[in-house]
Amino acid sequence: MKLVPELPEHRPAVLELNRLAFKGDEEPRLIKNLARDNSIFASFVALDGEEVVGHILFSPLHLVVNGERIDAVALAPMCVTPGRQKQGIGTQLVDYGIEQMKRAGQAAIIVLGHVDFYPRFGFRHDLARNLSCAFNKYDAFMGLELRPGSLDGKSGTCIYPRAFD
Ligand SMILES: CC(C)(COP(=O)(O)OP(=O)(O)OC[C@H]1O[C@@H](n2cnc3c(N)ncnc32)[C@H](O)[C@@H]1OP(=O)(O)O)[C@@H](O)C(=O)NCCC(=O)NCCS
Repeated sequence: MKLVPELPEHRPAVLELNRLAFKGDEEPRLIKNLARDNSIFASFVALDGEEVVGHILFSPLHLVVNGERIDAVALAPMCVTPGRQKQGIGTQLVDYGIEQMKRAGQAAIIVLGHVDFYPRFGFRHDLARNLSCAFNKYDAFMGLELRPGSLDGKSGTCIYPRAFD
């Protein structure tokens, strides 16, 4: 299995994978709208041969903490093809995505996701709960610092790309 940046020719399979994994059209629509708005910061796929078996996407956030704008991305959506879940592909994709965002100089990643899944990568609700945002009351709203101290003990505002509205 290979983890690589998504190429234009992967997009139909990425949309179909998201439709199957999330059982609906909401995530495919989100991806199309993010692409329409030029709001995809990075998108990666897991390939088994030629087949797209996993996908993770990052979009730019407007994140201001303690009055200072920091470089941060939202992790969403992310999924693994239903027949290949629980084989470690999701973990590899998140690890790879985090590493790529670090290399890209991002200071933090924000996710609204499974509370039993993301904490194993270091995501914490307490790092995000003081960011005013439609989601910050949920435990599933979590932050990960890529630059130490970027979120811890700070408060601010977090605005998602409008495709998430
Ligand atoms: C969540 C998802 C991406 C995980 O990918 P995966 O390849 O199955 O994950 P891995 O095999 O690396 O890890 C499996 C772990 O994730 C956990 N996990 C999988 N789905 C989960 C869910 N819906 N809620 C909580 N934990 C979940 C498993 O319990 C397992 O935990 P364990 O290691 O303690 O046994 C995948 O199940 C998926 O695509 N689900 C549908 C879409 C989705 O919910 N995406 C995430 C949106 S935030």
